[in-house]
Amino acid sequence: MSNVEQTLSIIKPDAVERNLENNIKEMFKNNGFSILKEKKIQIEKSEAEKFYKVHETKPFYNDLCAYLSSGPIIVMVLEKSNAVLANRELMGATNPIDAEEGTIRKKYGISIDKNSVHGSDSIENAKIEINFFFED
Ligand code: CMP
Repeated sequence: MSNVEQTLSIIKPDAVERNLENNIKEMFKNNGFSILKEKKIQIEKSEAEKFYKVHETKPFYNDLCAYLSSGPIIVMVLEKSNAVLANRELMGATNPIDAEEGTIRKKYGISIDKNSVHGSDSIENAKIEINFFFED
C-alpha cells in the first residue's frame, strides 16, 4: 500500500531574510521530498491569524501572527511517503535549542519564534493548510 502524502511547508521570514531558501529546499530534496508547488508571498497579519487559528488561545499567538506576516515567506507543497511525519522529523523540535543534529531547525533556527520553518502537524491539518494557500 502506498503511503504517499502531501504536507505544507513554510520557509519563515527569518530564513528568507538570510537567503536560506535554496539551502532548505536542498535539505528537502536530499531527503526525498518533491516540491509540487511553491510560491513566495507576504501575507497580512489577518491572514496569519486565520492560518494559526488553532493557536488563538496561546499567549504567543499575537507575536506569532505578527512575525509570520513581517516579511516574505515561501509556501510549498511537499510530497513523499509519510510526508507529514517525515517533514516533522526533518524540521526537528519546535525550539531549535532542543532540535537534533541534522535537522533544519538545529542548523538554521534562531529561537522558538524564528525557527525557520513550519510544517503541518497531521494529515488532516496538511489538507487544510495546503488548501489555505493553494486552493484551486
Ligand atoms: P510552528 O511550527 O510554525 O507552529 C506554531 C509556532 O508558534 C511554532 O512553530 C513556534 O515558532 C511558535 N511558538 C512560539 N512560542 C511557542 C511555544 N511556547 N510553544 C510552541 N510554539 C511556539
